[in-house]
Amino acid sequence: MIEARGLARTFTGRNGTVEAVRGVDLSVAPGEIVGFLGPNGAGKTTTLRMLTTLLAPTAGTAAVAGRDLRADPAGVRRRIGYVAQGGGTDPGVPVAEELDLQARLYGVRDRAARIAALCARLDLEGLGPRPAGSLSGGQRRRLDIALGLVHRPPLLFLDEPTTGLDPQSRGNLWDHVRAMRDRDGTTVFLTTHYLDEADALCDRLLIIDRGRIVAEGTPAELRRRVAGDVVTVELAEPAGVESARGALSAHPAVREAAVTGATLRLTVEDGEKALMSLIRALDGAGVELASLNLARPTLDDVFLTITGRSLREAA
Ligand SMILES: Nc1ncnc2c1ncn2[C@@H]1O[C@H](COP(=O)(O)OP(=O)(O)O)[C@@H](O)[C@H]1O
Ligand SMILES: [Mg+2]
Repeated sequence: MIEARGLARTFTGRNGTVEAVRGVDLSVAPGEIVGFLGPNGAGKTTTLRMLTTLLAPTAGTAAVAGRDLRADPAGVRRRIGYVAQGGGTDPGVPVAEELDLQARLYGVRDRAARIAALCARLDLEGLGPRPAGSLSGGQRRRLDIALGLVHRPPLLFLDEPTTGLDPQSRGNLWDHVRAMRDRDGTTVFLTTHYLDEADALCDRLLIIDRGRIVAEGTPAELRRRVAGDVVTVELAEPAGVESARGALSAHPAVREAAVTGATLRLTVEDGEKALMSLIRALDGAGVELASLNLARPTLDDVFLTITGRSLREAA
């Protein structure tokens, strides 16, 4: 659905040159929900604006929804929907009017039916007469998405779809995006700087930092790239810690074991599976446990491993 090679964009201004995007290759298959994850300033919006024909690339090529970006930008525009960061609705215009205008703009024939169906699907029913500015944050985001979908594009671009929304509205929006893909097969390419959003919503992630893609894969694959799971064992008696270490460092799943006081920190392959036999080994060594904790690597650990910085700090 998207094939981009060497996409780059440089901005030249009074304060010099900014290489916002430095040669991005990416492929998105039909029906995928792909997340473009990276800190603020990484180049997400710039890439999206190039893929949606709003900004000319300095270098590179792309085919988007079956049309060449440079040769047929109008063809690309007809086949995609685009929801800008922060949306683009006029706060004074009623919801129904906004939708109708968009449908006319795209020459949608069955306007009324299409708008009614979209409003039903995106929980916008009854909001027609309300000015967009009077909607809640979540409602406005759903209106933005409805506007992007009016002409039934097979590919939808969403730039930071849930930024500024409360947790409940964010979860609700994720449900709508998933339903869109599951029901209509809509391919979704979205940017986000939220780790939980990337994890919960996306089939596949591209991680971008400083204008370059630094990693890609499913959230699970990316997590596997960093050191394994961490099991923290706290003993009832500090005296038992060395025999505990002895019992566990021979365990086939344990890669590393470090001791601090009465606490043993184990780096473990597939922690969830290993947990029971670790407990049995400790039991066999006569060690009494105070607590046991399993932590799986987060996407932030992945970003940290790859770039040396935390995504939270980088933002
Ligand atoms: N129109 C512009 N003129 C100059 N610099 C820009 C422009 N748009 C973006 N940039 C710069 O390009 C970099 C990437 O920006 P952007 O793509 O908006 O990042 P993101 O969406 O990941 O937060 C930033 O350093 C930003 O300041
Ligand atoms: Mg942005």
